[in-house]
Amino acid sequence: MIIDVPELSLVALVGISGSGKSTFARAHFKPTQVLSSDFFRGLIADDENDQSASADAFETLHYVAGKRLTAGRLTVVDATNLQAHARAGLVKVAREHDVLPVAIVLDVPEALAWERTQAREDRTFDRRVLTRMSRDLRRSLNQLAKEGFRKIHVLRGVDEIAAAEIRYEKLF
Ligand code: CTP
Ligand code: MG
Repeated sequence: MIIDVPELSLVALVGISGSGKSTFARAHFKPTQVLSSDFFRGLIADDENDQSASADAFETLHYVAGKRLTAGRLTVVDATNLQAHARAGLVKVAREHDVLPVAIVLDVPEALAWERTQAREDRTFDRRVLTRMSRDLRRSLNQLAKEGFRKIHVLRGVDEIAAAEIRYEKLF
């Protein structure tokens, strides 16, 4: 599956924990193109899982995203992006910098994401949290276009995710 991405855009990855966002980002983008909420929580709080640092982490992430977009550099946001308010912040940054907000949704079965999550030492939340994320994801799918995302790519299942290829669209 070809994923068309404007050469200069703000790409939001969207998916529950364990859906493979960070893995996808590593496979398709340069490390410096990817701004991850975990990384920014770590910068602020010395702990990537410290949720109390989230507000500062996202404020900083948005700031850096803005600087990159001003410089004309594609920027990918690796966070769950399951909440409308989180996505609204990204749409706002994109609009302020006159670039298109793009969503790439990774939709995998919750059972698979849970299996992956349990195998990780850096993830300790319980199953109910993942179930809530799945519900948020279903809700998100209907909302992305209304929220202002101009291209929405939904990759369903591991095979579609594995087969995805990014194709950059030239800006004129
Ligand atoms: N993984 C895998 N095969 C894939 C994708 C991911 O085995 N095709 C594994 C990763 O190695 C990792 C786990 O599944 O151990 C979660 O993948 P990750 O990319 O980290 O998922 P995220 O969506 O980034 O999860 P989070 O929101 O918690 O950061
Ligand atoms: Mg991740």
